[in-house]
Amino acid sequence: MDLLVKEILTSSVTEHPVLEVIENRRSLRAYADKPVEPAKIDALFEAARWAPSSMNEQPWFYIYATKDQPELWQRICDSLMEGNRLWAANAPLLIVSLARKKHLRNDRPNGSAKYDLGAANAFLSLQATALGLNVHQMGGYDREKLVYNLGIPVEDYELGVVMAIGYPGHPEELPENLKQRELAPRSRHTIQGFVLNRSFNHGNE
Ligand SMILES: Cc1cc2nc3c(=O)[nH]c(=O)nc-3n(C[C@H](O)[C@H](O)[C@H](O)COP(=O)(O)O)c2cc1C
Repeated sequence: MDLLVKEILTSSVTEHPVLEVIENRRSLRAYADKPVEPAKIDALFEAARWAPSSMNEQPWFYIYATKDQPELWQRICDSLMEGNRLWAANAPLLIVSLARKKHLRNDRPNGSAKYDLGAANAFLSLQATALGLNVHQMGGYDREKLVYNLGIPVEDYELGVVMAIGYPGHPEELPENLKQRELAPRSRHTIQGFVLNRSFNHGNE
């Protein structure tokens, strides 16, 4: 392994000032028993809409369901891995994120589709934080089940994360192991672990 990677340290504090939404965003698991207002759902997708994308292709695509649409909501929830379903079943809003595989312009493969979807999901997550909502992204779902349950045309769409969204709830209501994770400080590699101000093989001249 590269020596640089071995040197990575972690820290639980923001070492430089950042936007409040970046500092406050967390992937929580406890949800309050309160629906997400339709205007806020609109704001989440509006935020995703304004993400940058390669050639402004905007390859993101979303299917969402609130608990007021029990059948659709359940189709998404049922496809989650058990470890996620355990807590995500309390989220009043579930969003499936997809990336259109081909350019609309010429039907050619879009190599940036998932990259751009990630940016849109990040915008959506930060907007959610600003609105007092928690977004928890999940890659832990049964792909075949989700494709079947939602009739996703896989020749046209790649699957991204499923997001569980709602107002934060009480950690005490979670099972003990999850409660501890919920309350634990977040940790990140320090900047020195992933930023160079020189090339890999030369100095900084
Ligand atoms: C692509 C992706 C997949 C993830 N899948 C899961 C998952 O299946 N279950 C889960 O509990 N968290 C999942 N997470 C959340 C991460 O574990 C979380 O973002 C990370 O631990 C950092 O914590 P923070 O978001 O609270 O800062 C996923 C996040 C991303 C971006």
